[in-house]
Amino acid sequence: LCVLVLGWFYVFPAYRLPSDKEIVEEVLGLGEAWRKNQTGIDLYRSVPECCNPRWMFAVTKENAPIGKVLWYDGEYYYSHTVNNETYSVFVQTTPLKPLKKCAVVGNGGILRHSKCGRDIDQADFVMRCNLPPLTKEYLEDVGNKTHLVTANPSIIEKRFQGLLWSRKAFVDYLKAYGSSFIYMPAFSMRPGTDPSLRAYYAVTDSPSNLTMLFANPDFLRNVGKFWKARGVHAKRLSTGLFLVSLALGMCDEVTVYGFWPFSIGLDGQPISHHYYDNILPGKWFHAMPEEFVQLWHLHKSGTLRVKVGSCR
Ligand code: CDP
Repeated sequence: LCVLVLGWFYVFPAYRLPSDKEIVEEVLGLGEAWRKNQTGIDLYRSVPECCNPRWMFAVTKENAPIGKVLWYDGEYYYSHTVNNETYSVFVQTTPLKPLKKCAVVGNGGILRHSKCGRDIDQADFVMRCNLPPLTKEYLEDVGNKTHLVTANPSIIEKRFQGLLWSRKAFVDYLKAYGSSFIYMPAFSMRPGTDPSLRAYYAVTDSPSNLTMLFANPDFLRNVGKFWKARGVHAKRLSTGLFLVSLALGMCDEVTVYGFWPFSIGLDGQPISHHYYDNILPGKWFHAMPEEFVQLWHLHKSGTLRVKVGSCR
């Protein structure tokens, strides 16, 4: 009997991801009620393996001196040994001080018509993912203030021809992010290192107040392990969850917007994947619905606030 029962759980695990409709019901059921829980925040920060963002989130001259071996976190057995060239592009030390109110803005279609722009812009520190569009059209819904924005090397390749030709379009595009940090996972996959360095030179060779930061692969790996132990089974975490992990370690209060990887909104109507388009992610790469369930647990425990739906 024991073997039968164990076999059953192996084939049909007890844990089932709720359907989109069930998630909507759960979120509507809880309503707007939310209370910050300092114990929850402290508990997250006290987990030793996760993830010391203050010291670790970026590679710096301090934590990655010449000769240091950086193991790519997105592939096995490949490393980059910090040399004169790479050392020279690292910032001296971690530039982030402890922060008060942070907004982490995902790119979910749930932001469209949310009118959350003003709330987002009122945060002390705003983090955004993957160089999202911040044009007039979206201002009311997503705001335009940015302190840190991630840029995946694949964006450099696809949208800006790897910066092998003109860099003007890239530099012009970045103007929307004012004087923020551009955070790139330069040491996650080997093909990403060169485009990241090119992006660094494009930015620093032009008159801008942007600062390029390269993600520390050890930090990304630790964050990945942390969430894996909590049930997020993806080949790679989504950019948004990396930023949430960073924010939880750095900020007194974290509100996340635009995290809703479901096909319907709170009104039961279909919504697009992004607030600006409906290009879906590769099926097996990220596990965004699993990630949302984790974020929702943190919301319910008062550790962070998940803002879904309208802000007005
Ligand atoms: O490149 P990636 O797929 O990670 O991200 P994206 O599509 O540019 O969106 C940025 C982040 O927003 C994602 O990493 C997710 O964390 C979050 N997101 C979400 O929760 N729900 C969506 N429908 C779309 C994005």
